[in-house]
Amino acid sequence: MLVPAIASNTNYEFAADVRGGLTLRGQKELPSKYLYDEVGSALFEVICHLPEYGLTRADERLLRRYADEIVDRVAGPVAVAELGSGSGKKTRWVLEALSRRQPTSYYPIEISRSALRMCERELGDIDSISIVGFEREYLDGLREIAAHRQPGQHFFVLFLGSTIGNFDRPCGVKFLASVRAILSPGDSLLLGTDLEKPAAQLLRAYDDELGVTAAFNLNLLSRINRELDANFDLRQFTHVAKMNYWARSIEMHLQSKRRQRVSIPAAGISIEFNEGETIWTESSHKYSTGEVCRMAAAAGFRCESQWIDDEWPFAENLLITE
Ligand code: AVJ
Repeated sequence: MLVPAIASNTNYEFAADVRGGLTLRGQKELPSKYLYDEVGSALFEVICHLPEYGLTRADERLLRRYADEIVDRVAGPVAVAELGSGSGKKTRWVLEALSRRQPTSYYPIEISRSALRMCERELGDIDSISIVGFEREYLDGLREIAAHRQPGQHFFVLFLGSTIGNFDRPCGVKFLASVRAILSPGDSLLLGTDLEKPAAQLLRAYDDELGVTAAFNLNLLSRINRELDANFDLRQFTHVAKMNYWARSIEMHLQSKRRQRVSIPAAGISIEFNEGETIWTESSHKYSTGEVCRMAAAAGFRCESQWIDDEWPFAENLLITE
């Protein structure tokens, strides 16, 4: 028997999560955070330009249009921490509005190194904004930043793009409560949430006709091939988007076209797939505006204000710690 090579330190968690998710007895699953390696982050940027996927453009429209109003309601001076900055493109509007008020520190927190680099390049030119990136998990990064809080300084946390939707509802509230626990009274959180919309529209958005979302999803298997020496045959899997009406979410899966076996040496496993069996790779929950305020309240935030895009239902929610 071939002894599997010991995964390098950086791949160790990835290997453990892949092993955990693919050896589950029922539905196999992989954490959606692993979609964002260098290729995945680039594909996500393309998704944001697709006509079917209006989410990011709605988010950016709201920030561009209401940045001054939003910033006016935030106690200053503030340090800005962003959970999952991505390319940082839409954050520009908030930072520019703040920089007109006073010099501001900006701390993007990203597990994706390539996204962090993109963001530093994108926003590096704004006057009186200093950028320090943290390649960390969200809460670890936020704790580290909060530990260096200056006296009298408030935090303004950005959690945009409806990334909260990747948590199921109870975990979403728990996550908000964990953010709240790191913050102090008077700190604020700007939360972007995608709102409920017709199933047909969501299915088009998460299964675009060009196949970019399919490539984004399938890239997770090529990442496992690249980083964990696996032998997934990508042509034997298809991207599937499906509504979960009970959870009010849209899910992405990777469906096996036939019965097959895949070995993942660096995770120490060999996995059997039945024909039609799926790996669940992402959920995107959709919300009502009232529900966001109730979730925020349950996590210890007051809903100060909401701004809603009417072209693509999406809300920016300004939440203030109680
Ligand atoms: C970046 C998590 C908000 O859930 O809509 C885009 C990721 N997945 N197309 C989302 C995604 C499929 C996106 N978020």
